[in-house]
Amino acid sequence: MAAPTAVNRQPWEFVVIEDCSTLDALAESLPYAKMAKQAPGAVLVCAVPERANQQRAEYAVLDASAACENLLLAADALDLGAVWTAVYPQADRQAIVRQILGVPGDVIPLALVPIGYPKTEEHPKDKFRPELIHRERWHNRERPLDLPPAEHS
Ligand SMILES: Cc1cc2nc3c(=O)[nH]c(=O)nc-3n(C[C@H](O)[C@H](O)[C@H](O)COP(=O)(O)O)c2cc1C
Repeated sequence: MAAPTAVNRQPWEFVVIEDCSTLDALAESLPYAKMAKQAPGAVLVCAVPERANQQRAEYAVLDASAACENLLLAADALDLGAVWTAVYPQADRQAIVRQILGVPGDVIPLALVPIGYPKTEEHPKDKFRPELIHRERWHNRERPLDLPPAEHS
């Protein structure tokens, strides 16, 4: 909740899940959240448009995304492992999460973040790409950029 938010509206809420049967149900229903089955807990990060700047869903999603990243960083700082698994913007995944966790229709379930104890020590990947940085103004490239390999949709 230390994340920056537009006009300091803090338009987020969180559902902390530790019940094994709920974690199992989420893991079985969400296509890329299988790790929730083994995780001792998970946090659903939610965006609340009615409390966001101009009551816009876009602001709520931006603000809650910043909180979600902070959650990942906080977990790492505690030597825990955490993964952002997508719920928003996929309508079918949002419907599944609403149904399992009772999230109301005016709240956006943004991401399910399973949290656990890493089995191996992960070192940060070096994803730095200097060609993505423009200096002083935008410079067009001579050839298209290679995309990084896709892992999840
Ligand atoms: C919006 C968003 C959705 C994501 N959805 C999933 C997901 O459903 N399942 C998953 O295992 N990882 C998911 N990720 C994590 C990405 O796969 C991961 O960040 C990416 O592969 C790069 O790996 P790294 O974060 O370890 O560098 C998601 C990340 C973001 C930002």
